[in-house]
Amino acid sequence: MQLTKEEENIFNGELGEAPKIAIRLLNSLGELGGADRLIPIKSAHISGVSYKNVGEGGIQFLRKISHKVSVPTSLNPLGFDIENGGPVDIDANFHSKQMEIVKIYQEMGVMDSFTCTPYYYYNEPTFGDHLSWAESSAIIYVNSLIGARTNRESGPSALASAIIGKTPNHGLHTDEGRKATVIVKVEEPLDYTKFAALGLFLGPKLNKKIPLVKGQRNAKSIELKAFSAALSATSSIPMFHVEGVTKETGLVADSAEIMEVTKEDISDTISKNSTQQEPELIAIGCPHLSSEELTYIAGLVKGKKKIGPDLFLFTSREVKANSSEAVRIIENFGGKVFADTCMVVSPLSNNYSSTGTNSGKASFYLPLKGYGNQKVAFMGILDLLKWVIA
Ligand code: F3S
Repeated sequence: MQLTKEEENIFNGELGEAPKIAIRLLNSLGELGGADRLIPIKSAHISGVSYKNVGEGGIQFLRKISHKVSVPTSLNPLGFDIENGGPVDIDANFHSKQMEIVKIYQEMGVMDSFTCTPYYYYNEPTFGDHLSWAESSAIIYVNSLIGARTNRESGPSALASAIIGKTPNHGLHTDEGRKATVIVKVEEPLDYTKFAALGLFLGPKLNKKIPLVKGQRNAKSIELKAFSAALSATSSIPMFHVEGVTKETGLVADSAEIMEVTKEDISDTISKNSTQQEPELIAIGCPHLSSEELTYIAGLVKGKKKIGPDLFLFTSREVKANSSEAVRIIENFGGKVFADTCMVVSPLSNNYSSTGTNSGKASFYLPLKGYGNQKVAFMGILDLLKWVIA
């Protein structure tokens, strides 16, 4: 790593302790990754916001590194909906610790976005932008669908980049690092839930290999959002290509191997991730819903009578504010639309022990102790809604 004179000064502490810690972290990561230098970034996105994940140690680290950010920086969801409360009961200690974390980020100048889909509002990258983003589902989405460039950063490394305004130049910032190393041929056309299942199926098998998916030329961006979240939850893959859909499908390694995925691989994955019959809660919005998705769900429940389990939808404040008619229809039906939080980072097990979801990522995390401790029904949205529509 070759630092400029200005960067060396920061490294030696001339701008204070927090920038010194930040640039030293970036320098070490750059050395490890084989980077030659730091490059400027357009934006950062920080994960590790819920007190459930951050804990006491994380709060101490945040206090130590607290410093104004130098690029637009968005923030992941936290443990509850700040303005409206919910989705579950929390104790006073959780509430005050969570708000302390929020306050530290606010003092740093980070946006009150509290979403894992900041690319809809708040922080919208364009093709070729260099970024430093944490939150695996967002990283893989912006690399693959938008063609922006970010490595798979952690909360601390994205925060360090937000302070310095730079990131080490290696991996996904280079053409070489974005090449597909495995070609995946999928037998059947996939819908939202089947794309999520494909992500769950491929993640453990591919580990770090970047796939080029063939046979899915009609894939929609919300389906690929589901694929992004499931694939990145079950692997460290930061990017994928889809033939005829994504923008960098020409980047394929000469040595790319070939893999085939059958109908049975997909249906078996869905069955394996579904351990519950009728759940206590239907939770939709992992990753956070777009306006288009909220409108679609509103159309399905409009004028209907609600029965059975609770229905919770998760999105960002901006999407909620810009989808007021859809939100009104869903809430008239008896569902609830939450912002700032999600089914995984809120302490769901305080109120529920079983959840139905169409999210592959949530079906992976929710059964884990410390994440949700839930029994999960993993299925398509139309099947989930059968439980709540009379
Ligand atoms: Fe987003 Fe929470 Fe899922 S942060 S990707 S909704 S686990």
